[in-house]
Amino acid sequence: MTEIRGKTAVITGAASGIGRATALALAREGARVAAVDVDREGLAETAAQIARAGGQVSTYLVDVASRDAVHAFAQEIESAFGGADIVINNAGVAQVARVEELSFEDFEWLMNIDFWGVVYGTKAFLPQLRAKGEGHIVNVSSVFGLFAVPTQAAYNSAKFAVRGFTEALRHEMRGSGIVVSCVHPGGIKTNIMRNARFLQSVQQTVREEAATGFDRLARTTPERAADVIISGIRKNKGRILIGTDAKILDIIQRLMPASYGSILFRGRTGIGALTENEAAER
Ligand SMILES: NC(=O)c1ccc[n+]([C@@H]2O[C@H](COP(=O)([O-])OP(=O)(O)OC[C@H]3O[C@@H](n4cnc5c(N)ncnc54)[C@H](O)[C@@H]3O)[C@@H](O)[C@H]2O)c1
Repeated sequence: MTEIRGKTAVITGAASGIGRATALALAREGARVAAVDVDREGLAETAAQIARAGGQVSTYLVDVASRDAVHAFAQEIESAFGGADIVINNAGVAQVARVEELSFEDFEWLMNIDFWGVVYGTKAFLPQLRAKGEGHIVNVSSVFGLFAVPTQAAYNSAKFAVRGFTEALRHEMRGSGIVVSCVHPGGIKTNIMRNARFLQSVQQTVREEAATGFDRLARTTPERAADVIISGIRKNKGRILIGTDAKILDIIQRLMPASYGSILFRGRTGIGALTENEAAER
């Protein structure tokens, strides 16, 4: 069981959504929270909420897509607190684009944050955990790391890759005292779709509909997601599914590994709202 009280917990993407709620929950459990994001204002709000709750927090403006910045940040944590105990690589972005329209630049933008950001965060902090002989690494994938969705090829690629990377590391760390968890949230009501990058051609019309469609589908609150993550950390769970939707979707893709798409999408073009016909009309 991973102890949280008195530990130093690093969490990326802490300015919003799941990251903010988890940072707050960790602080309430007595962790010293190192909250990371690129959003200065959002980070300040997270810190204010933690301070109001009587928790300990320090904030760091770090772009997880920069390997140098993440390693420099890890050094800062080593100097300030003697290293991290719990590292939650949560920062992420979304993107809506079909493969044929997806530019390499957009693909790389997403992979750099959602995949390489997780790898950098893991590699930068792993030596600190090794030196202590214990600790917990929590990498946030998605249900989209379990099955694929039209218009989400880049996001799917990153989230499947996070899962593969994290599971391999979990096997490598067996018996080391370092626990490695992979988180697969279902729909969580956050800003992720409102902040998503959309393919240029339909940006204006589709963005709002996709965000609204997402809000309709995403039933779990960030606070509930944080509770599930904290409970998973405490119980040393290797695989943390969040939400009934995640559990059902996990079963569907196992039962129908090749044909789940015929049930889940039924002619829809993506996770937003459009059917093939609606998309063709635009
Ligand atoms: N919301 C969902 O339904 C859902 C489902 C499955 C997985 N997830 C994953 O959960 C994680 C958190 O997402 P969320 O829903 O809370 O989204 P969110 O948009 O509310 O929060 C994401 C945070 O990451 C930060 N961020 C983005 N790029 C960054 C960078 N380069 N460096 C540092 N910080 C950066 C953002 O500023 C933001 O504060 C993501 O990895 C996401 O893919 C979310």
